[in-house]
Amino acid sequence: MEIRCTEEGPGPGIFRRELGEQQQPTSQSQRWCCLQRGCAILGALGLLAGAGVGSWLLVLYLWPATSPPLSGTLQEEEMTLSCPGVTNEEEFLPSLPKTVSFRLNGEDLLLEVQVRARSDWLLVCHGGWNPTLGIHICQSLGHLRLTQHKAVNLSDIKLNRSQEFAQLSSGLEGHLEEAWQPSTNCPSGRIVSLKCSECGARPLASRIVGGQAVASGRWPWQASVMLGSRHTCGGSVLAPHWVVTAAHCIHSFRLSRLSSWRVHAGLVSHSAVRQHQGATVEKIIPHPSYSAQNHDYDVALLQLRTPLNFSDTVGAVCLPAKEQQFPRGLQCWVSGWGHTDPSHTHSSDTLQDTVAPLLSTHLCNSSCMYSGALTHRMLCAGYLDGRADACQGDSGGPLVCPSGDTWHLVGVVSWGRGCAEPNHPGVYAKVAEFLDWIHDTVQVR
Ligand code: ARG
Repeated sequence: MEIRCTEEGPGPGIFRRELGEQQQPTSQSQRWCCLQRGCAILGALGLLAGAGVGSWLLVLYLWPATSPPLSGTLQEEEMTLSCPGVTNEEEFLPSLPKTVSFRLNGEDLLLEVQVRARSDWLLVCHGGWNPTLGIHICQSLGHLRLTQHKAVNLSDIKLNRSQEFAQLSSGLEGHLEEAWQPSTNCPSGRIVSLKCSECGARPLASRIVGGQAVASGRWPWQASVMLGSRHTCGGSVLAPHWVVTAAHCIHSFRLSRLSSWRVHAGLVSHSAVRQHQGATVEKIIPHPSYSAQNHDYDVALLQLRTPLNFSDTVGAVCLPAKEQQFPRGLQCWVSGWGHTDPSHTHSSDTLQDTVAPLLSTHLCNSSCMYSGALTHRMLCAGYLDGRADACQGDSGGPLVCPSGDTWHLVGVVSWGRGCAEPNHPGVYAKVAEFLDWIHDTVQVR
């Protein structure tokens, strides 16, 4: 059996270490082998003077650990004590209050806006309305598209006596922040109702009870991106024709024929896959700034030729809403068919998932962890004691966080040093940084 020392590129699931479990007996010898091979390769690298800093970073971050793991469950707070120079403060200043917020309320999906210092929600008068505003509002709420907008007669709805309105100032189209003038009445007698494309819902979720292997419909946006009959990476459904995955998944196989790719959604077990089923791919669009050296901008969009059939088990995830904050410690989830043990070389037959709490980027980039390797387009999630993590083959798949009943795609599985190694949590492409690129790309096509 060939023991693989590096874990670069897409391979096979979610790795979950039982709490308190020791390192596997084999892992010592593997580590020794890896150490030896590591030394040889490092030596060779030393001779290649041109390899420079980029190679050094790759070796450092994608190599299995040779340092002894920390035992026990370390909380982030404890961790910072042993990490010189790291304070446990939030890296972000508290964000300024938003000047304007939107929501769609009630069965009629009435558009409501909250402006500046006011605490009440204003209904929006239809006068001066244009559909471009609707598109921007849906996008700012984390939806991909506007599906319907209409005027509703005030006489057809029940209103609070104190209800106030927002009127659109003319000539400010597209300026979502400034366009709204509070008013006690609505001269047109009609208000705006909006419907955005559906996302982030789990119609079957109430039927699911515990367990590690995932029941059908638990993560309806989970896709398997396959090359021929081989699962290469995870993906997340954004719309019937659009799936987002990691750019490195595509980059590793950039010479493959487009027709060899298939996207499967609504899948739990890979043994249920029939060849030539699945959606064919029309276009692969890696982020133009993707860097194979440091995995910066590690996202790609797959435009499907055959649309996915949405159902109870197949549906879109929401993107993060504009300026939505996902705080450190938030219990998010990652899912995939990757390795369930770092020493395995096959992807898991059944979809696996685990909780992955969000970690502070400041801490994750500290000298005890990734020493500055994270860019602004990355975030960390998981555990410092290595109890669970994504692994090879999970790349491209979703890290989703709840906001009420709605799930948002916060991260795309990207990289990590080994899998579930203490102090080396999973690193994810930060979806909030790609919203404009995603909307522009999907809109144009
Ligand atoms: N690059 C891997 C893949 O292609 C994913 C690695 C994620 N690693 C981790 N420790 N979270 O599947």
